[in-house]
Amino acid sequence: MAFGLFKKKENTPAASNKTESRGPHYYDLAVKNIINETKDAITIVFEHPAEKVNYKSGQFLTLIIPIQGKEVRRAYSLCSSPFTDSDLAVTVKRVDKGLMSNWLPDNLKAGSKVKVMEPMGQFTTEFKTDNKRHLIMFAGGSGITPMMSIIKSTLTQEPNSICSLIYCNRDIDSIIFKDAFDQLQTTYEGRLHVIHVLDNAPMNWQGYSGLLNPEMLKKLFERIPEWGIDNSTYLMCGPEGMMKNVETLLEQHSIPKEKVFKESFVQGTIDKDSKAESAATDNELKTREVTIRYDGQEYKVSVPPNSTILETALDQGIDLPYSCQSGLCTACRGKALSGKVKLDEEEGLSQSERNEGYVLTCVGHPLTDDVVIEIG
Ligand SMILES: Cc1cc2nc3c(=O)[nH]c(=O)nc-3n(C[C@H](O)[C@H](O)[C@H](O)COP(=O)(O)OP(=O)(O)OC[C@H]3O[C@@H](n4cnc5c(N)ncnc54)[C@H](O)[C@@H]3O)c2cc1C
Ligand code: FES
Repeated sequence: MAFGLFKKKENTPAASNKTESRGPHYYDLAVKNIINETKDAITIVFEHPAEKVNYKSGQFLTLIIPIQGKEVRRAYSLCSSPFTDSDLAVTVKRVDKGLMSNWLPDNLKAGSKVKVMEPMGQFTTEFKTDNKRHLIMFAGGSGITPMMSIIKSTLTQEPNSICSLIYCNRDIDSIIFKDAFDQLQTTYEGRLHVIHVLDNAPMNWQGYSGLLNPEMLKKLFERIPEWGIDNSTYLMCGPEGMMKNVETLLEQHSIPKEKVFKESFVQGTIDKDSKAESAATDNELKTREVTIRYDGQEYKVSVPPNSTILETALDQGIDLPYSCQSGLCTACRGKALSGKVKLDEEEGLSQSERNEGYVLTCVGHPLTDDVVIEIG
């Protein structure tokens, strides 16, 4: 495939300057600045530490913060680009009653220190000057963050590539990075096309309004330049319903699945069938020993039926990489070299990854006595 360069298989974290210590690499980052993007979204700009943090556009940082006496971890995609930004930045949108997304804007200040885990994630691509591709992106709300990084990297690193972005928001005041996108469209005229779609548009709104349903999508696709040509890659990140509609329409247009890449921030609720099916295997669960190979070490953990492989390993003090703990981010991904593993949630893995034996330890349970998982 000539242009489908988005990664699905690589599992190595981006940081290459690991210390001698076992386990994932952590950094204490100093907050340089906090930018109010909208009434409910902030960008946290971190000073780049002396020890360089290597990352790829589309990857995320895991912020680790003690809140209410508990260590809380959440993933936030980097909106900065390693090619254009000297600092690291993430943008956080408040979630109603959400723990971390409200704690951060309410408590963080310039000068605060935040513990983060090394950048991770598969929603990324290699940038090459001779690439000639069209990235067609669909984002909703906070789902714009990885797209921002990928757009900045593409525009600056691939002079022959173009980006089209369909960005959906509740209302005009919820649009994150609106001015930055206006500026980028001017600077890179003809190479970035941003189409805003609002649920509730003001009277004088010139753009599109309404839900991103199949009819709306059809109209929008007609506005995308060179739509459907072979060098197009499709990226999406946003609410589950929006991504489902986009996937359905792409299927109807016979776009091959290998050209479609998805980043989920929240656990899905629509596809319950596969979960119901996997629940049928629950009676096969019993305490079984699992061998985990990670960072040159081999660990043996005895996983009880009511616990995941990751939970059991963490309880035993084994410092494994993880972030969302809900099967979305792939930070805990490993390859089952032998044995069978049941996953409570498969959203984070593509079909080809599953076929190759990849598993997510945070939602994984051993189904046989010979499970060996290699991480990293
Ligand atoms: C790979 C990855 C990258 C992410 N990048 C970003 C990012 O760049 N910016 C960002 O703001 N968030 C991002 N998230 C989501 C983020 O990790 C948290 O889930 C989010 O901030 C909510 O955390 P919380 O502690 O406030 O809510 P919690 O206390 O964990 O959850 C409260 C409730 O809200 C629901 N919920 C969680 N997230 C959302 C959401 N986005 N919309 C609606 N309901 C939700 C939960 O299911 C739960 O029911 C990312 C998630 C992943 C997996
Ligand atoms: S920790 Fe995110 S998928 Fe397992």
